[in-house]
Amino acid sequence: MIISGSFDPVSERDLEALKQIRRRQHVRDLYVSVLPEGILSCGRRKKLLEKALKPYAHLHVCDETGEVMESIDEEKIRSGQFHLAARGIQKDLIENNDYLDHIVGQMCKPSRAAHSRRVAEVCVHLAEVHHLDVKKAYRMGMLHDITKRMSDEEGERILKFHDPDRLAVNPKVWHSFTAVYWLKENMGLYDRTVLNAIYHHTLGDGSSPYDHILYIADKIEPGRGYDVSRQMAAAEKDLAAAAEMILEESRAYILEKEGIHV
Ligand SMILES: [Fe+2]
Ligand SMILES: [Fe+2]
Repeated sequence: MIISGSFDPVSERDLEALKQIRRRQHVRDLYVSVLPEGILSCGRRKKLLEKALKPYAHLHVCDETGEVMESIDEEKIRSGQFHLAARGIQKDLIENNDYLDHIVGQMCKPSRAAHSRRVAEVCVHLAEVHHLDVKKAYRMGMLHDITKRMSDEEGERILKFHDPDRLAVNPKVWHSFTAVYWLKENMGLYDRTVLNAIYHHTLGDGSSPYDHILYIADKIEPGRGYDVSRQMAAAEKDLAAAAEMILEESRAYILEKEGIHV
């Protein structure tokens, strides 16, 4: 028997449904295939399905189309709830940066999503220049403002539980902290390099090259609308020095604009 579905991506509940079909139909082996249409390519979804089915001796991936099954939870997974994906593929989704564009589009308003894409591009560029992990750089750029739309009440609830000291910081900065807890809880993203960079992206108080890259990229992405060639040249040469320079400039700017020492 063959069952086909979009499996975009395959979820834990899809696996349960497939096992149930096998039991109900009293078949020894069940063959499963991916339908052509999907956000991820057919090849990628097939690969993920193969990995998810691997622990099950009687579930196999095939190329022929059979009875169509409605995929379960795929939209939720594509909105960042990776914990609902088949257990065997959750890490893969993160490491391959799958659905990031979709997640940002779902979680952020369009202008913020566009900003995140531009920040990610600058992060990738600076990671390439400094021979760092380009995939991590893209991931942190895309996800850095993921909880920007969260209400102050929700932010307060999360910080009270996870990070109460941070409640003293201006609520405009909270999204840097709440993003970390959101990413852990929903996406199962525990990569400390990425999480630290996001945590420090607004205050610019990080110390790793990735922390500097995200802080700089957030400030100089092309949509900011001013000439950043000087800052970009500095960042290509020395990340720590460039981050320090931009931090000083933004302190001076805030002091001039709002009369506040930061
Ligand atoms: Fe931000
Ligand atoms: Fe940002």
